[in-house]
Amino acid sequence: EYPNLAAILDRYKEKIAAFPKEKGWMGLDLYMYQGFWYTSQDVFSIETTLAVQETFQAHSTDIYLATQPKSGTTWLKALAFAVVNRKRYNNITLSTHPLLSTNPHKCVPFLETDVAKKTPTYLPENQPRLYATHMPYIALPQSIHDSCCRIVYMCRNPKDVLVSWFHFGKKLSHTLLTQMTLDEMFEVYTKGLMPYGPHWDHVKEYYKASTEDPTRVLFVTYEDMKKDTANKVKQLAEFLGYPFTEEEEANGAVEDIVRLCSFETLKEVNKTGNFRQGVANDTFFREGKVGGWSNELTDEMSQNMDDITTEKFQGLDISI
Ligand code: A3P
Repeated sequence: EYPNLAAILDRYKEKIAAFPKEKGWMGLDLYMYQGFWYTSQDVFSIETTLAVQETFQAHSTDIYLATQPKSGTTWLKALAFAVVNRKRYNNITLSTHPLLSTNPHKCVPFLETDVAKKTPTYLPENQPRLYATHMPYIALPQSIHDSCCRIVYMCRNPKDVLVSWFHFGKKLSHTLLTQMTLDEMFEVYTKGLMPYGPHWDHVKEYYKASTEDPTRVLFVTYEDMKKDTANKVKQLAEFLGYPFTEEEEANGAVEDIVRLCSFETLKEVNKTGNFRQGVANDTFFREGKVGGWSNELTDEMSQNMDDITTEKFQGLDISI
């Protein structure tokens, strides 16, 4: 599946041996690099991050969709893909639109997985190149920092992210993973011992970058996207340089994209098949709700998380 992966995993063995190491999410060894925790020996890992940093060349027309896992990555991929490619698939009610047959993760590759493939999924003639990543802002390759390409970051309420991680973990059946109770996952999550954690620091960095240069980094929340999807899609399109014309708006193009990328539509499309070995397409579509955490977290857990969020996000205007 990833022909370059073995060589990448091997290449950084010595380097990562010197990084701080702790047990974290699902019992995995996590490595601290530039202030964040990473898994090892996987396609989403410290090794692929280092490989991306070392080899990836950004183009000024590129678009990057950055998230922490379980924050709405799949949704953001679908929305950005549909917006940017809407001329190519201009009648999205036809069943020929790729999102009506293909997992959004196959339409928009991750930098982390692309570096492990033999040939990049996105060829230069498909401008703009649309990529996603879970890498923290600080870890993005220098060529992205140096270019004027656009970055969209989506964050989500950490309590919903934790619950989403928990259910996601239950669906994974990799031998290296140890199942965790919600209590145990709460423990590692609040300590930041998650792939690409700590959650709060990841959010803060992108938030800061968006305030420093709002033309380059757009910061959106899952919650706002849920509340007012049409207006947020318009904002996204404008930011990406693909604003909807008056005619398109009058013809319902925005609503068509909202519907195409809705949880209900995508869940139905992805109810069968596998995204990658051991990960079914439907793993990415569970409830798709805001505030579902209240059915699962205890009052104490909730209070504890609120305290961390208040402290970490002090002075930031983030409504989640
Ligand atoms: P829940 O587990 O709370 O349902 P990611 O894509 O970053 O892995 O995040 C997965 C979360 O996004 C899951 O949350 C999933 O249900 C939700 N999700 C996936 N597609 C969505 C969509 N089209 N609209 C809203 N939420 C979506």
